[in-house]
Amino acid sequence: MSDLAAVIMAAGLGKRMRSATPKHLHPLLGRRMVDWVVEAARPLGADPLVVVASPDTRELFEGVEVAVQERPLGTGDAVASARGLLEGRSRDVLVLSGDTPLLTADLLAELLAAHRRAAAAATVLTAAPADLLRYGRILRNERGELQAIVEAADATPEQLEIREVNTSIYVFDGERLWPALERLTPANAQGELYLTDAIRHLVEDGEHVAVHRAQDPDECEGVNTRIELAAAGAVLRRRINERHMLAGVTIVDPDSTLIEPTVELEPDTTIGPFTSLAGRTRVETGAHLVSHVVAVDAVVGPRVSVGPFCYLRPGTVLAAGAKAGTFVEIKNAHIGEGAKVPHLSYIGDAEIGAASNIGAGAITANFPHQPGRPKGRTTIGRDVRTGIHNSFMAPVTIGDGSWIAAGTVVTDDVPPESLAGFPPRQVTKEGYVREQRD
Ligand code: UD1
Ligand code: CA
Repeated sequence: MSDLAAVIMAAGLGKRMRSATPKHLHPLLGRRMVDWVVEAARPLGADPLVVVASPDTRELFEGVEVAVQERPLGTGDAVASARGLLEGRSRDVLVLSGDTPLLTADLLAELLAAHRRAAAAATVLTAAPADLLRYGRILRNERGELQAIVEAADATPEQLEIREVNTSIYVFDGERLWPALERLTPANAQGELYLTDAIRHLVEDGEHVAVHRAQDPDECEGVNTRIELAAAGAVLRRRINERHMLAGVTIVDPDSTLIEPTVELEPDTTIGPFTSLAGRTRVETGAHLVSHVVAVDAVVGPRVSVGPFCYLRPGTVLAAGAKAGTFVEIKNAHIGEGAKVPHLSYIGDAEIGAASNIGAGAITANFPHQPGRPKGRTTIGRDVRTGIHNSFMAPVTIGDGSWIAAGTVVTDDVPPESLAGFPPRQVTKEGYVREQRD
């Protein structure tokens, strides 16, 4: 038996999102909303870690155990759906909602410590948010002990005045949770089996139910609408940006900078405004992302300069001192040390050697000539100078030190230290326009 198991309720419909996508699967800064909760619970070492999914979403989870709630009959029923996976497997059960993405592992650890200090049958995490609206209110007796939780829909006007609310985050003693759930009935305004009623039943049985109050109510904020989704995204973004800034990254305008949690930034990098860094992107020391850079799974080496207005797609590697300039898109390509792609180019499935310079308007034509064939690679050696408006009909190789003339469509390999190109020369028909007119 483990010390702690966790169950994350994520089978509700989330009607207020007005979406065909279930609420918990909405993306939030690179993860699905529910995955933020899973990641907050993981450091506590909960075993098992169970997500309660709906029949539609059961296949969509990895690295957790999945219980299925056939119909969304309420939060009490959601936890009961996980009974088969949880019962007898842990001393305590941490119950979480899949719609509180701002939760931190530190707060959960505090809650668990409070629960154990109090040797309680259950401990409820409460908060005092500015906006009380739809939250369940915490009813205490004259000695300050928790008596019950009343849902906003069931509360009297006096109860609605209570400023302490249920966060829907709890720790239960593993043995006392299940019998309390068996007693739930849907006798309430929403006709649901409320998990909150299990708390009341425990109190009525004379069990000690403790309360732990979160200092920062934002951490427990539930997301029910897309307005709240965006607000949660802003908090997560700020947290990530502040962590990087404290670790030595300059973020010029944090409000317009989106950095996913999986991105790595080394100290002394500069991230300009309107920049989004996603996935497994890594930015190394001394690199400068000027502004309006979008990078997904890209590696930006030391002292590299990127942007403004640059799109680095998966598989891009910019080696030390390289440059990807204005209106440049790079995908699955290695740009060598000190090599430059300064303007208006698409470089895909390519290798560019050290110190080469790619003229403005370069396009690697990587699309296969026959459907179904793999994309062709463009290989450009070291110290190459390409002209403006070059197209590279991949697969094609340009040897070290070569030059390509402006306007060339490179159809054949070029040996080292050669000059290739010479597109058709201009024809000038002097007086042509005048003759047409007369
Ligand atoms: C719940 C609490 C309320 C608390 C609030 C905090 C109850 C009855 N009420 O209300 O006291 O203040 O959270 O945010 O528990 N879920 C399921 N299956 C269901 C119903 C819900 O998995 O049948 C999941 C939801 O997907 C969600 C979580 O449980 O992740 C909470 O459900 P929700 O409907 O959002 O509860 P609230 O009305 O917010
Ligand atoms: Ca909610």
